[in-house]
Amino acid sequence: MENKQIVIVLDFGGQYNQLIVRRIRDAGVYSELLPYSTPLEKIKEINPVGIVFTGGPNSVFQKDSLAVSAEILELGIPVLGICYGAQLIAHLAGGEVKTATTREYGKQDITYKDAPLFANIPSESVCWMSHTDYVARVPEGYEIYASTKTCPVAAFGNKDKKIYGVQFHPEVVHTTNGQQILKNFLFHIIGAAGDWTMANFVNDMVEKIRAKVGDKKVLCAMSGGVDSAVAATLVYKAVGKQLTCMLVNHGLMRKDECEQVLSVFRDGLGMNLFQINAQDRFLTRLAGVSDPETKRKIIGKEFIRVFEDEGRKIGKVNFLVQGTIYPDVIESGFGKSAVIKSHHNVGGLPSVIDFDEIIEPLRDLFKDEVRKVGFELGLSKEIVMRQPFPGPGLAIRIIGEVTEEKLDILREADAIFREEIALNHLDDEIWQYFAVLTGMRSVGVMGDMRTYDYTLALRAVTSIDAMTADWARIPYPVLERISNRIVNEVRCINRIVYDITSKPPATIEWE
Ligand code: XMP
Repeated sequence: MENKQIVIVLDFGGQYNQLIVRRIRDAGVYSELLPYSTPLEKIKEINPVGIVFTGGPNSVFQKDSLAVSAEILELGIPVLGICYGAQLIAHLAGGEVKTATTREYGKQDITYKDAPLFANIPSESVCWMSHTDYVARVPEGYEIYASTKTCPVAAFGNKDKKIYGVQFHPEVVHTTNGQQILKNFLFHIIGAAGDWTMANFVNDMVEKIRAKVGDKKVLCAMSGGVDSAVAATLVYKAVGKQLTCMLVNHGLMRKDECEQVLSVFRDGLGMNLFQINAQDRFLTRLAGVSDPETKRKIIGKEFIRVFEDEGRKIGKVNFLVQGTIYPDVIESGFGKSAVIKSHHNVGGLPSVIDFDEIIEPLRDLFKDEVRKVGFELGLSKEIVMRQPFPGPGLAIRIIGEVTEEKLDILREADAIFREEIALNHLDDEIWQYFAVLTGMRSVGVMGDMRTYDYTLALRAVTSIDAMTADWARIPYPVLERISNRIVNEVRCINRIVYDITSKPPATIEWE
């Protein structure tokens, strides 16, 4: 699928920007988010079949408003402006934008007129609004295609030029026919082919990797996580035994985790996968350390040292596989946020391994697309739907110093929690669930004897992207069974608490 059709989404800073790209891809058309400041020349070079202007916090009146050249409307490429994007089209094409005295926010009844953008949807429907500025007069040659009680120009456009603006947000689920509106833009207005499927992606990517690698050697560090597992499997499908994978066991994995990875990928698929046993190295470095950030940094550094040592043994590598995915690309490209926790995964590898070129087969994919690719490659639900697991592993789920004994206790308790969640079919709706060994001890009574043991916390959250999260409402009988089993089956735990804080103000992990 070389020269694949692409719709570019120009980012004006709205909160739903990635969502627009995902919705377009869900409809079967490849899409990418680009900064609003992308030069017109670059856009022409990309030659998209359609352009979307996103919403954003700005006003077209601000001096430094995030504008683009009006020429973008003259390229003959269909354009859809959403919220701020719609106002921008009106502004650029000679219409009039005004500021209202109050903000219009939330669900609104909307009336759609007969227009290609609103084909196959009822004329009376519901949309999601969030704006203060509004289009007061449409540009010459444009018509009004939808209105609400408070917003006379809820949608407008020019059928001949194939340029449309919608004041509401078709990408959010609260807009009843939102996905159909996006599909109308893609298929009625652009006439896109709709051939962005994960089956096509796999076939193309396998061919590309094969052509690139030729008869050379490839190395991949697997973490057990979904991204590196899917990336490695794709490359393995392309070049087989030319790929070598290594799995660093830092001793901070969950129960049976390394064994499972070895059994699926080495024994099952036949991959050239070897484990590096570095448990002692990590535990020695972590001895006596309680501070969360110090623990994270020590683990990050030790990873690099392990890779350096292994790299020396392996010598020169032609290609290195990384499980980078699209949100990583977007975030490192144009996002800036405060460091709450110093994250790390296997990203330190490139700097210490001697290699010629990097292969990032998933760098264009969102997480849900990576999972679909995993299924396409025949990987099991257990691997593909695996919940996120932090690079520093159980070390940040043990409050205070990490010891072998505490790791064993936590592993057992966590395994019971996970088993019960799966048995009760709650694993699809809960984003992440795990046990935390708090450093706290308290008095209990067991078999008429006084105990003085650890308190274990259970953490389970629902989330879309881990940026925000809510605590999962696990049914009481399930919590009761988990609690009973853990205190009975795991030594040194005599009290269980359930974490009922959302993020923010808490974070998902405790450290
Ligand atoms: P927090 O605790 O910041 O976590 O709310 C958000 C998500 O990120 C995961 N997490 C990590 N992932 N390396 C990773 O690859 C890390 O160092 C790391 N720390 C936290 C966490 O499990 C949650 O899904």
